[in-house]
Amino acid sequence: MRRPIIAGNWKMNNTKAQTYALLNDLVPLVKDAEAEVVICVPYTSIWAAGDAIKGTNIHLGAENVHWAEKGAFTGEISADMLKEQGVEYVIIGHSERRQYFGETDQTVNMRVKAALAHGLKPIICVGETLEEREGGKVEEVLVRQTTEAFKEIDKDELDNIVIAYEPVWAIGTGKTATAQDANDTIAIIRGTIAKLYCEKCADKIRIQYGGSMNPKNAKELMAMPQIDGGLIGGASLKAVDFSQVVKYNA
Ligand code: PGA
Repeated sequence: MRRPIIAGNWKMNNTKAQTYALLNDLVPLVKDAEAEVVICVPYTSIWAAGDAIKGTNIHLGAENVHWAEKGAFTGEISADMLKEQGVEYVIIGHSERRQYFGETDQTVNMRVKAALAHGLKPIICVGETLEEREGGKVEEVLVRQTTEAFKEIDKDELDNIVIAYEPVWAIGTGKTATAQDANDTIAIIRGTIAKLYCEKCADKIRIQYGGSMNPKNAKELMAMPQIDGGLIGGASLKAVDFSQVVKYNA
C-alpha cells in the first residue's frame, strides 16, 4: 500500500563534474525501479543534478531549507529558491544538523512548515543517540521529536511528508540497527502519528530507515512491514551500490 521510497543523501560530497558523472551512471541503472528514487544533493549540485535527471524517474531533493521567506540569513537557502530549481524533496532535521549546527525540534518544525507552504516535500529525520538508547530513552526521544516536528501541520499535508528513522549511532558507522529493531522502533513513530492524527494517517505515512543501509542489508530491512524505504548516505555516492539498494529485491 505504501510505495517504497529510497533516497540518497549525498551530504557534503560531489562537485558539479562529479554530480554529472555519478548521475549519468545511475540513470540507466535505476530506470525501471519499482521504488520511488530520490537524490538529495548539496545546493551547488542542484542545477547540475536537475539537468542530469531531467525526464527520468529520479526525483530531486535538497539537504536543508530555511524557514524564512528571505532576508538577512547569510549562508541560508529559502524554500522558494529550491522550488525554482526544480527541487521536490528536502531533508529536514538530519542528525548531523542537530549535532553540529544547533538544529532543534523547534527549528525542524519551522523548516517543515516553510517547506510545505512552498510545495516541497519534507523528509523529516528523527532518531536517538547511543546514549539515549543505552539510557532506555528511545521511545521518549522519538515521541518528542515526532510530536514537535508535526506541530501545527495539517492532516492534509501528511501525504507530502516522509519520515526517516535514523538511529544516530548507525549513521556512517557501519553499524546497522537489526531489521527487527528498526521495524519495532519505526512502529513507535507510526504509533505517534496515529495518536497525533489518526490510525489511517499512520498507515499511510511512509517511514524510511537510515543508517549504514547498503546493498547487503537493504533486502532484509525492506522486508520488514514497518520499513517503507531508506535514507542512504555512504552507499548513495556510488552509482552501482545505490542502484542495488534501490532494487533491493533484485
Ligand atoms: P549512512 O548515512 O548511510 O552513511 O549511514 C545515512 C544518513 O545519514 O542519512
